[in-house]
Amino acid sequence: LRPIHRLLSRPGTVAADARREQQSAGSTETGSEDRTPKKRFSEVQKERREQAQRTILILCPNKISEKKFLKYLSQHGPINNHFFFESFGLYAVVEFCQKESVASLQNLTRTPSMGTEAAIPFRSRFFNLKLKNSSDQTSEQSCIPCNQSPPSSKKLFELLCDAESIDDQLNTLLKEFQLTEENTKLRYLTCSLIEDIAAAYFPDCAVRPFGSSVNSFGKLGCDLDMFLDLDEIGNFNAHKTSGNFLMEFQVKNVPSERIATQKILSVIGECLDNFGPGCVGVQKILNARCPLVRFSHQASGFQCDLTTNNRIALKSSELLYIYGALDSRVRAMVFSIRCWARAHSLTSSIPGAWITNFSLTMMVIFFLQRRSPPILPTLDYLKTLADAEDKCIIEGHNCTFICDLNRIKPSKNTETLEILLKEFFEFFGNFAFNKNSINIRQGREQNKPEPSPLHIQNPFETSLNISKNVSQSQLQKFVDLARESAWILHQEDKDHPSPSSNQPWGLAALLLPSVAKSMSRDKKKRKKPASERIKNLLESIKSSPENPTNTNGKR
Ligand code: GTP
Ligand code: MG
Repeated sequence: LRPIHRLLSRPGTVAADARREQQSAGSTETGSEDRTPKKRFSEVQKERREQAQRTILILCPNKISEKKFLKYLSQHGPINNHFFFESFGLYAVVEFCQKESVASLQNLTRTPSMGTEAAIPFRSRFFNLKLKNSSDQTSEQSCIPCNQSPPSSKKLFELLCDAESIDDQLNTLLKEFQLTEENTKLRYLTCSLIEDIAAAYFPDCAVRPFGSSVNSFGKLGCDLDMFLDLDEIGNFNAHKTSGNFLMEFQVKNVPSERIATQKILSVIGECLDNFGPGCVGVQKILNARCPLVRFSHQASGFQCDLTTNNRIALKSSELLYIYGALDSRVRAMVFSIRCWARAHSLTSSIPGAWITNFSLTMMVIFFLQRRSPPILPTLDYLKTLADAEDKCIIEGHNCTFICDLNRIKPSKNTETLEILLKEFFEFFGNFAFNKNSINIRQGREQNKPEPSPLHIQNPFETSLNISKNVSQSQLQKFVDLARESAWILHQEDKDHPSPSSNQPWGLAALLLPSVAKSMSRDKKKRKKPASERIKNLLESIKSSPENPTNTNGKR
């Protein structure tokens, strides 16, 4: 139910109050209001990676005393942090204070004898803990596992319907779906465990997470993108050699970089499949535009995509991280738009002609650059702020922008999320996709250089379109849904549902799949939509003289 005090307030007032309250409550979200210094992306990556290297993963017996468990492990050194989670069994993530503790534990760990099967001995940081005497532990207080999954749709709808304003709804959705501290740790740990396996071949490699696991736009349950970084092997100390000699490794040569990538990934795929504890369903997808190895990490439950030489993608993740940290409204908008798109099947986990989450994020950033005053700066502006140490050229592409986000001035724009959500749908409901390209580098639309239905310029490889895969019909579906959503919000302003009506409102109404279904049914078969309220809304949309969808005969 929509709380009655919202209905008594002037539109916008509660939303603005809620935002102020959130700010004064010392919200954990980063935003223009939050004056605490924010870490650079590279600092976060470095810290998390180092933390993950001192961390282990343990499959535990179901009944285990947390106290005894920690006491047992502390014999190897002090523990900084730990948590439990449930996947196919009870797992513990334990972060030691020192890396040496891991080696000490490994030295006391045995390789199991398997009866009729044979074990492939691999001394990883993924352990199995057994109880010698189970009755010993049951009387003790057992551990409480952390949640690693997003809320159910039912729970989400309840939370959204109980919210006080649309702003509150968007912030609630963000809070419920964003990666938790534990989930983030588990992602870095998984990469670190994979790095140990890859290191069997390439001892100095790094496996780095990128994409939504690190760009601040990851939803609980999203895939884990990682890349095998071999760049630093051998290159580090080469320039330090003195005298007139230059030493090079004898290496095998292959005809192209792509073939080298395929060969490396092929062998790593084999390692994961044959020796990687907990790595299952390994698929080598080596003929894709960007060759990859896909697998499930059973313990963490992550679907992993491993690529190699993906420095530009890591730089894109850094750019998105900066945009996400500049203003608290950015992430709230991106999460809501991603959820809205998923609820209406505009995005899919299967590759195809659908819009991707990456493209949607770019669209939100572009929209926020177009506000007056802008909420986000252009990429060209971030480049002008860069200093010498920020300079970054990857494969001939200039990927330079300022890395210290504390030096970027906060926006003067004070629009509420409610306004921004409405305006987003109107903006893209009326965008001239047929002639314009979305360009976050310049922060304004450009003429489309090629005829793809949706053109979003790749910010670093500027001749590429990141949404080349999107078909005209998928784009049309996006536009239709954006228009419907704009008008549902617009109607709600005029026609608040009565507090006694048990109908979803605001963002909850926009996420209802039945809105889309009834919409397309109504469009195709002219049948009555299921919900009376939605029917009324759609009727008023059609009859409204201000309805922009009527002006070009779209419906
Ligand atoms: P999720 O849907 O939550 O996984 O979002 P994501 O941002 O992680 O997207 P995805 O897993 O599809 O891709 C991972 C990363 O690869 C993205 O964050 C981008 O940095 C990069 N990427 C994905 N698609 C493209 C593309 O079409 N072009 C380019 N240049 N980079 C892409
Ligand atoms: Mg991803």
